[in-house]
Amino acid sequence: MRRRIVAGNWKMNKNFQQAEDLFDELVDLLKNGQNKDTDVIVCPPSLYIEMAHDLSCDEEDGNEVFYGVGAQNVNEHESGAYTGEISAGMLASMGVEYCIVGHSERRRYYGETDALVAQKIESLLQNDIIPIVCIGETLEERESGKAFEVIERQLEEGMFNLKPLDFVKLIIAYEPVWAIGTGKTATPEQAQEIHAHIRKCIQEKYGKAVSSTIPLLYGGSCNPKTAPELFAQEDIDGGLIGGASLQAEDFMKIVNA
Ligand code: 13P
Repeated sequence: MRRRIVAGNWKMNKNFQQAEDLFDELVDLLKNGQNKDTDVIVCPPSLYIEMAHDLSCDEEDGNEVFYGVGAQNVNEHESGAYTGEISAGMLASMGVEYCIVGHSERRRYYGETDALVAQKIESLLQNDIIPIVCIGETLEERESGKAFEVIERQLEEGMFNLKPLDFVKLIIAYEPVWAIGTGKTATPEQAQEIHAHIRKCIQEKYGKAVSSTIPLLYGGSCNPKTAPELFAQEDIDGGLIGGASLQAEDFMKIVNA
């Protein structure tokens, strides 16, 4: 059985107080009604990682952990003169367990390439942080019939350099760029088609034992309404949630979808 995962990507939202309030609400909801079959991950802005970590478990309650803490980005170098950047070693030392890599916003606004994504993944794995690697096509690429080709290139150049023992540690998120923040969710059929293709490519490269264990998340305007049908698809193992993760109740509904 593959792990079921719902991860929230807060992106660049919330000030300190708002972040604390959201964590508090979320912990209350998770304490009382979390579907235990689903792993929950929260990826706040890096400034709030310490707070996220402190609030993620309840010491009185036998150290129950409510969610895993993830970062939204990492620098590929170990340390040095890279002003403004944060390394995987630093994240690990703050208790970070996951990190988003290759998000389309980073590819688009900060020029991140598949080669850079590969370097970041390597640095994260060396520090025992699980990469949540994002891939997905733009609207233009979809409309010109290139969705599969783009996905294959992103897998090949970003991840397929890994040895099987490292590759199995990844979580992969399919996030069609045209669905992110647009309110235009991919249909369950569209998402399943790509997810099945991703799994097939992984199977061809690493074999069935590996392809059947990698969690594949869907991301892009996923909300409490669209999540149940998406998550019911054979190759969709959960979601990477942007906007709807900023509201505790909505996020919780998606967790329990
Ligand atoms: P939205 O859910 O806001 O579309 O964002 C998805 C996303 O980019 C998650 O990483």
